[in-house]
Amino acid sequence: MTSLAVNGVTCRGKVLTLDSMNPNVRRVEYAVRGPIVQRAVQIEKELREGVKKPFTEVIKANIGDAHAMGQKPITFFRQVLALCSYPDLLEDNKFPEDAKKRARRILDACGGHSIGAYSASQGIECIRQDVARYIEKRDGGIPSNPDNIYLSTGASDAIVTMLKLLVCGEGRDRTGVMISIPQYPLYSAALADLGAVQINYYLDEDKCWGLDVTELRRALNAAKQHCKPRVLCIINPGNPTGQVQSRECIEDVIRFAKEENLFLMADEVYQDNVYAKGCKFHSFKKVLFEMGPEYSSSLEMASFHSTSKCYMGECGFRGGYMEVLNMDPEVKAQLTKLVSVRLCPPVSGQAMLDLVVNPPLPDEPSYASYVKERTAVLAALAEKSHLTEEMFNTVPGITCNPVQGAMYTFPRITLPQKAIAKAQEEGQAPDMLYCMKLLEEEGICLVPGSGFGQKEGTFHFRMTILPPTEKLKVVLQKIRDFHLRFTQEFS
Ligand SMILES: Cc1ncc(COP(=O)(O)O)c(C=O)c1O
Repeated sequence: MTSLAVNGVTCRGKVLTLDSMNPNVRRVEYAVRGPIVQRAVQIEKELREGVKKPFTEVIKANIGDAHAMGQKPITFFRQVLALCSYPDLLEDNKFPEDAKKRARRILDACGGHSIGAYSASQGIECIRQDVARYIEKRDGGIPSNPDNIYLSTGASDAIVTMLKLLVCGEGRDRTGVMISIPQYPLYSAALADLGAVQINYYLDEDKCWGLDVTELRRALNAAKQHCKPRVLCIINPGNPTGQVQSRECIEDVIRFAKEENLFLMADEVYQDNVYAKGCKFHSFKKVLFEMGPEYSSSLEMASFHSTSKCYMGECGFRGGYMEVLNMDPEVKAQLTKLVSVRLCPPVSGQAMLDLVVNPPLPDEPSYASYVKERTAVLAALAEKSHLTEEMFNTVPGITCNPVQGAMYTFPRITLPQKAIAKAQEEGQAPDMLYCMKLLEEEGICLVPGSGFGQKEGTFHFRMTILPPTEKLKVVLQKIRDFHLRFTQEFS
């Protein structure tokens, strides 16, 4: 800390400076809301102020935020949430009886019958029971214990909490965490924050972003030289790459994790987002149990789900859960202690999660509208997944794997040598240059592949498939025109 004397008064420098702050926080990067998005916000402001641009609006296809792109919420979910927020509406006959019944049940489980009260830190008990029943039904009857369910502030919170519990040691004993490349940057950001060692394993773009155990083994063995690999993270269906893992692949991963004594983190927030023919979502837990007690009684695992994705897209409610399996009871007590420090996840998010895991039943009045709305959202996403793949693959210099699931496409772009050299001169990643130029010229906001990690010498961008179909067609056409122009300009 520096001290200066001005007019006899001692002025100290700031306690908190870039040099004195937590260096791990400085290392954190989060591309999904990075410089491109900041520029997009600025351009929107310029447009509002009347600055002339070659476009009239910025289309944000950078983040998996469905409602922000116009997706409508499921009516029943919002009815129940409205009733929970303002219980006087329970007297209003505009609301269906099943929504009122759900709202009363949730309110009865809340302190003082109000969603404004704190809940138990692990989450409201009857909601944890509903989550356990949902998992059992999803997994064909494999038991789920509500005591193993932790409700969370979106899946992000639970993922970070779990990593916090796992990361320890110094030097060569520091915990190594295996993450896929390309990855969802929550993982690299959390690992940087915790000072853990990030172990990259690469997905195979030529095999539809498939995961191969040989690659897992290569990455693990290389990492053993400088850290202690203890965790394997899998995202299925994948973000940003949109692949859906086959059952065989999941079995291979489970065998590998057991052999290598790794804690498995299965990020399954896109479990209802599967579009490709022949693809199906298999939960890691179900496969684990079907592999028999040799695996199911010993492999330590946490799996994650959220209200933010699938057909709900209720990101702002920050609802989620994790289920832990085979966790040492003493560690579990520590986990419960850790989550109690943040008091509880948002109770409105817990209520939203309850509706996701316990939607209207076939004999209830809201069932038909729930099914209709849910089916319409998923059908539109499926249509857009095919449209995107087809369109990109017609553009010379863009190749795109099928969007089997999730909400993203991660096409590969061939960039001219001159563009690569220019970006390097400017100290920029070449795909950042590409995306920035696309934003300035067409008003389309994407995230460069470099924000997710990619094989050296390859370039990509991530685009969500969330814009409404007609708008998505415009976006795809604009990207096509831009790509051809860009290639020409730098040839
Ligand atoms: C793979 C994956 N995991 C976790 C999250 C976090 O979601 P949330 O915290 O909103 O539940 C996201 C969000 O995009 C994601 O794509």
